[in-house]
Amino acid sequence: MTQSARSQQATHPPLHGAGWHGKAVVVSGGAQGQGASLALQLLQVGATVHVIDVLPPEHVAWQPLRDAAHGNLFEWPHDVAMPGTWSRVADALREMGHALQGLVNNAGITGPRNTATQTQLPDWERVMATNLTGAMLGIRAMAPLMGRGASIVNISSTVGMTGYYSCAYTTSKWALRGLTRSAALELAPRGIRVNCVCPGVVDTDMIQTNPALVAALQDTIPMQHMAHPSQIADVVMFLLGPQASYITGADLAVDGGVTGGGIYWSVGRRVGALGQPETASSSKA
Ligand SMILES: NC(=O)c1ccc[n+]([C@@H]2O[C@H](COP(=O)([O-])OP(=O)(O)OC[C@H]3O[C@@H](n4cnc5c(N)ncnc54)[C@H](O)[C@@H]3O)[C@@H](O)[C@H]2O)c1
Repeated sequence: MTQSARSQQATHPPLHGAGWHGKAVVVSGGAQGQGASLALQLLQVGATVHVIDVLPPEHVAWQPLRDAAHGNLFEWPHDVAMPGTWSRVADALREMGHALQGLVNNAGITGPRNTATQTQLPDWERVMATNLTGAMLGIRAMAPLMGRGASIVNISSTVGMTGYYSCAYTTSKWALRGLTRSAALELAPRGIRVNCVCPGVVDTDMIQTNPALVAALQDTIPMQHMAHPSQIADVVMFLLGPQASYITGADLAVDGGVTGGGIYWSVGRRVGALGQPETASSSKA
């Protein structure tokens, strides 16, 4: 590679504010939760956002996105695990001539959170299909539409970095990190980056539907509160944009210190070295 080729790659227009106009981003699982928070941020900066989500068009979750959109929201009420979903979106992007800047594979389900010996095959297959196969299908369909500077972000989890009793979910989130590394290698020569965000405990329906789990998790977080969905979206925005132009194949834990401290947060508390927790509630920073 020549020096001028290197310099050319290092200089690119900023992709914030007006820089997002005319750029398209596909967000899966974007009708609610973290995906919706991200889609809102993208709509606010002027990006064109294609949201894929199994929630039907009449579901109330879509409304805040519609309210924030100015003709720059495209809704795809489909399943990420179906190849046809991705070919439909790809065909539309080609027809519309949208420059595809980003893909965020965010759609995910936990399934019944069973242990390995209790896992039922249909549950396992559904979790894998949504969390893992959906992301692979997304990369396979969207990467050909992307150019230099584009970015793919896969939403894994801190359970993809450690052991967790919920077998299918944990396995799918570890595998997503493998998919990220594999795709990052393939796409690096084309200037397309692929990274993973590993959220800790995030205040969305996924977790709030299980109050016992929420209560048990509170004591595991050094920052002592769950993440607000926008705190994850902020990091995804960074990875989608040019400020992250030299990051690929990486996993970024966004977890209030859970994985950084490992087991030593609870140990420090138990031996009295780290004091008593403040009120544990979800708050933005
Ligand atoms: N909430 C947490 O504590 C937490 C922690 C770590 C990682 N995550 C991950 O973050 C991502 C977003 O989860 P969330 O917390 O916003 O949960 P959520 O349940 O609020 O949102 C998930 C979205 O994905 C959609 N979805 C589910 N299956 C789909 C499918 N087959 N096709 C298309 N859309 C589908 C749902 O309809 C929903 O809108 C998931 O991948 C999840 O595993 C969540």
